[in-house]
Amino acid sequence: MTDPTTATATTTADASTAPDARAAAFDRDHPVRPIPAAGPVDTSPITLTPAAGEDLDPLWAAVEPLTRSRSNDVHLPISLAFAERLCDAYPAADRELVRVTILLHDVGWARVDESRILSEGFTGDWRRAGIRYEHERQGCEVAREVLPGLGHDAAFVERVTAIIDGHDTRPVAYSLEDALVRDADRLWRFDHAGIALASGWFSLDPARYTDRLAEEIMPELITDAARRMAEADLERSRALLKTGVLR
Ligand SMILES: [Fe+2]
Ligand SMILES: [Fe+2]
Repeated sequence: MTDPTTATATTTADASTAPDARAAAFDRDHPVRPIPAAGPVDTSPITLTPAAGEDLDPLWAAVEPLTRSRSNDVHLPISLAFAERLCDAYPAADRELVRVTILLHDVGWARVDESRILSEGFTGDWRRAGIRYEHERQGCEVAREVLPGLGHDAAFVERVTAIIDGHDTRPVAYSLEDALVRDADRLWRFDHAGIALASGWFSLDPARYTDRLAEEIMPELITDAARRMAEADLERSRALLKTGVLR
């Protein structure tokens, strides 16, 4: 499967092909792809650096029941840990925006028909499945419900929902924060926990799933830091899971 992001993911982004002004502006601001890191890049196993601090604990508590769908109680904490590493590598990004948004981006899955998640969300043209738009819309609703009560103003909530809306179905990023959320959302799959869970969603064995990660997901990563983290994790996971012979 070729994704539109792949076409701009190697050398220089072409703003003239971007679908709208926000994507074009982001391409102009970050013409080199993958985007080079400005800070340190940690490629060690993600288990070594869990998400730091307790400031997001009230938000976790507010959405806890909504994390129990589609293994989001595993996906979201691991992706938050990756997001914090990406913020270290790209210090120009608004760290709070990235952290809050990655925590919330998939809670909308809890409000869609569970039986449709696997039947529609992970088969066929799964990126364009209606249920994927629905989980984005529902995720935005959750953000609007929980964030004001935790002290976030309307402008911040708007920035969060602007990233959640389209995080799966829109092929291009609109901002650095949007790009980091997208990359963190993909990076968890390269860890062995992500492979263990997500290979089953796509009805693939772990070896074939790692092949798919290398061929389809790796080229979608927008930042160079994410590419380096993904490459290191993929190598570790393939060795751990013996994908050379278990195929
Ligand atoms: Fe999603
Ligand atoms: Fe996700």
